[in-house]
Amino acid sequence: MCGIVGYLGPKQAYPILIDGLTRLEYRGYDSAGIATLEEGGKLRVEKKEGKVANLEAHVAEDIPKGTVGIGHTRWATHGPPSDRNAHPHAGSKGRIAVIHNGIIENYESLKDLLSDRGHTLVSDTDTEVLAHFIEEVMTSTGLDLPEALRIALKEVVGAYAIVVLDQSQPDRLVAARKASPLVIGVGGKNDFFVGSDATPIVAHTKNVVYLEDEEVATMTRDGKLSIRTIGDADVTPEIQAIELEIASLEKGGYEHFMLKEIYEQPRSIRDSIRGRVNLQRGTTTMSGIDENWGEWEKAQRILILGCGTSWHAGLVAEYLFESLARIPVEVEYASEFRYRNPIIRDTDVVLAISQSGETADTLAAIRSAKDAGAHIFGVCNVVGSSIARETDAGAYTHAGPEIGVASTKAFTAQVAVLTAMALHVGRRLGRVDDGVFMRLVSGLDNIPGLVEQCLESAPAIGEIAKLFAGAENALYLGRGYQFPVALEGALKLKEISYIHAEGYPAAEMKHGPIALIDEDMPVIFIATQDDVYEKVVSNIQEVKARGGQILAIVTEGDTQVKSLADHTVEVPRAHEALAPLLTAIPMQLLSYHIALLRGCNVDQPRNLAKSVTVE
Ligand code: G6P
Repeated sequence: MCGIVGYLGPKQAYPILIDGLTRLEYRGYDSAGIATLEEGGKLRVEKKEGKVANLEAHVAEDIPKGTVGIGHTRWATHGPPSDRNAHPHAGSKGRIAVIHNGIIENYESLKDLLSDRGHTLVSDTDTEVLAHFIEEVMTSTGLDLPEALRIALKEVVGAYAIVVLDQSQPDRLVAARKASPLVIGVGGKNDFFVGSDATPIVAHTKNVVYLEDEEVATMTRDGKLSIRTIGDADVTPEIQAIELEIASLEKGGYEHFMLKEIYEQPRSIRDSIRGRVNLQRGTTTMSGIDENWGEWEKAQRILILGCGTSWHAGLVAEYLFESLARIPVEVEYASEFRYRNPIIRDTDVVLAISQSGETADTLAAIRSAKDAGAHIFGVCNVVGSSIARETDAGAYTHAGPEIGVASTKAFTAQVAVLTAMALHVGRRLGRVDDGVFMRLVSGLDNIPGLVEQCLESAPAIGEIAKLFAGAENALYLGRGYQFPVALEGALKLKEISYIHAEGYPAAEMKHGPIALIDEDMPVIFIATQDDVYEKVVSNIQEVKARGGQILAIVTEGDTQVKSLADHTVEVPRAHEALAPLLTAIPMQLLSYHIALLRGCNVDQPRNLAKSVTVE
C-alpha cells in the first residue's frame, strides 16, 4: 500500500525514482509524485493523478534534476485521487517535502493545532498535516530535520513510513517508520536507496537495512547512515544481504505479471517444498517446528490468522491440520480477531499467514496473540518482512516476488507449505498412519508436474471465458477441501473482472444462493472425485434443474459430472488433501481470461493494493 522510493548519491535521482515507482506501482496507483532538490537547493515537487506514466509524461519536456529525491505512488486513504492529494506534500514554507505510507490517526487534532498557528492546508490528506507539523517543529525549535522529526513523531499517533527531503540540506535524506515497512539500500558509492520494500532497491544494491518501528534514519552524502530511536537511543545499523533477483521483478515475456505468476507455479511450489519433503527418505523437515517442538506438542488449538487470499489458504490448512494432526483449528480474519477480545491461551499455537508479511491487521493480531502468551509461527513470502521478523519461528514460502495484485502463486505456495507442516506435525505426534503419510509425501512431490498439466487447459478455459465474460454475477461452489478453493475462485473473479461472485459450500447453496440461479448465472462447481463427490453431484443436479450454466472442474476421466455440466475442465487425479493445489489453477485462469475479455487492468485492478499496510 503506497509505494515509497528515495535516493541520495552521486547520480541523477530522477531515473532512479521513476524506475523505482514503476516497480512499486503494484502497491498503489491512484497518483504519483516526486520531489528533487535542483540546482541551488531549489525544492521541485511534481505530482500527477493516475499512473506513473502520467507523471513521466507531465515532466517529459523538463526532467527534474538533482542528486537527491523522493518519489511516491499512492493508494488513497484520506482524500480522493487527485493531483492535489498526491504526494510529496510540502510544509507551509515549502522547506521540506514528505512522502508517507500509513495513516496518521490524530491528524484532526494536529490540524487544529496547525490552523491556530496560521497554517493553511491545500489537500485532504493526513500526510500534508504531518509535513506542516514537522516544519512547524523545525521552525519553532530551531532544530535540524532529524532531531525535529524525532520530536514531532513523539506527538504522532498512527502508522507511518516516511521520507523527508529538506531544501536547506541537499546532502541529507531522513526517513522514519512505525508499523509501515521501510527498507534502506546501502550502495557501494556513498549512495542510499530507500523503498517501502526492496523492489526499487535491488537493481542498485543487495545490501539493505530494515528500519524498525520508531526509528529515524539519517543518510548523508559522505555515505554515513545513522539511526536513532524516537526515544533518543542510538541504534547500530545492521546491514543484511537480500537475495532478490531483478529478473524476478520483470514480466519475462508474459503479457501480465498475473499470467507469468500463474505459469510460475510448478516452480514456486517445487521451491516451497524443496528440502521440506523428501521422497527418497520418506521424511518431512520443518526446522521452525522442530526447534519449537515443545509448543506444538502441547498445542490444544491452532489459531490461524490472515486476510484475503492468505485467509483462504488458512481455511485449507484447517482441513489439513484437523485431519492429519488432529489438533482443533480456528481460522480468523486478523482484522476481526484483534478487536473482539479473543481468548488466547499459552497452549495455543498461532499460525499467521501473509504473502507480503506486512498486512497491518495480521501484524497487529499476532502482536496481541503474542502478548497473551501464544507461540507465533509465520508463513510469509517476503523475506525480512515485518511479520517474518516478529514471529517466534516460521517457514518462508519461496514463491518469489508476486507483483500481480491478485494473488496466485503465493496461494499455492502457502497451501504447499501448510500441507508439509500438517504432515510433519501429524507424523511427529504419531497421528498419521504410515501409508497415508507416504502417499501424501509422494503426492506432494508429484504436484508440480500435475500443476504443469493443469496449465495445459488454458486455451479451453479461454474459450469458456468468452461465454461467461458478460455475466453480472457468478457462484462458486465446493465442499470439504474444495470449499476454500471456491472462495478463492470467487475472490479472483471479483478482484480483477469486477463481476460480483460468491463462494459457498455447495450444500449450503440450498439455504439462500439457490434463489439467485437462473439461465444467466454461471455456477462454477469444483467436483473432483473425493469423499464428498456424490454429494456435489446432487448439488449439480439441483442447479441444473434451475437452468444455471454449469462449469465443473472435474477429475480426469470423470463421466458422471461431464454428462450433467455445460462445460468441464479436467485436473489430474490427486489425494483430496492435495487437490486444492490443482483446482486453484483453472480458477485463476478463468478469472484472468474473463478480466482480459472485459478490458480490465489485470495486474492493477481498481481500488486494490498488493500490500495493505493500513487497518
Ligand atoms: C491484499 C491483497 C490480497 C492479499 C491480502 C492479504 O488484499 O490484494 O491479494 O491476499 O492483501 O495480504 P498478505 O500479504 O497478508 O497475504
